Amino acid sequence: MPSFPDPVINCISKNVYTPSDDTYLILDYFKSNINISYFDGLKISEIKRILDLGTGTGILAIFFQLIKKFNPNFNPEIYASDILKESITCAKLNEKSNGVDNEIRFIHSNLFDSFPNSLKDSFNIIIFNPPYLPSSDLIESKKSIDYSWNGGKRGYELIIKFLKNAVAFLNLNRPHYIYYISSSRTSLTELNKKIIKLGYRTRILKEHHFFFEKIYLNRLKYDKH
Ligand SMILES: C[S@@+](CC[C@H](N)C(=O)[O-])C[C@H]1O[C@@H](n2cnc3c(N)ncnc32)[C@H](O)[C@@H]1O
Repeated sequence: MPSFPDPVINCISKNVYTPSDDTYLILDYFKSNINISYFDGLKISEIKRILDLGTGTGILAIFFQLIKKFNPNFNPEIYASDILKESITCAKLNEKSNGVDNEIRFIHSNLFDSFPNSLKDSFNIIIFNPPYLPSSDLIESKKSIDYSWNGGKRGYELIIKFLKNAVAFLNLNRPHYIYYISSSRTSLTELNKKIIKLGYRTRILKEHHFFFEKIYLNRLKYDKH
């Protein structure tokens, strides 16, 4: 397969999350773990639907859409969603800048609230680079950009809510994975206990260290049916 595409991100706005270390942790992992036949160890032809939840500028969804141009075995429908209308507008413009026209299916939604029932039981892959910082770390404000950081009082409440709701949208009869970012600024022991209780098997795939924080790319498989 030719070298991986780096999406062009022209639309950046003060309310939309600018791709950062967490975004690139995810992108770099997939660059090393997708090839002509396999998507992170899963048969690539079996991947039929991918969701980039909390898409921001659309960078991850666009990355997957661009791979389709180079890999004839990779032909999933790509969905991207965000709670911010402005992010959807921006991601659509970025989709165009990458020579992709109206192929990504965008959904403006708070988690899965506005997803149609027809998408239930259908995603093989769901990726969420969520807001993961404790709200106590943030200055009290109600700006749109806070959606990028504020993961709840303890930092992981939104991830847990996401995982509770995600089960209904995963295709549990086919190969499936959820990928998400977590941070050492939250209690990872508490978070992992809750995740296991929900019925997921969890694994750390990659990490990035700053001087004050570590961030982790995690992969989950639902294991309770
Ligand atoms: C850390 S940013 C990640 C953006 C992009 N995926 C990336 O990796 O660069 C988190 C994104 O999740 C979105 N978000 C926050 N809460 C959400 C919710 N409840 N439902 C859907 N999207 C949400 C934010 O608006 C933001 O775009």
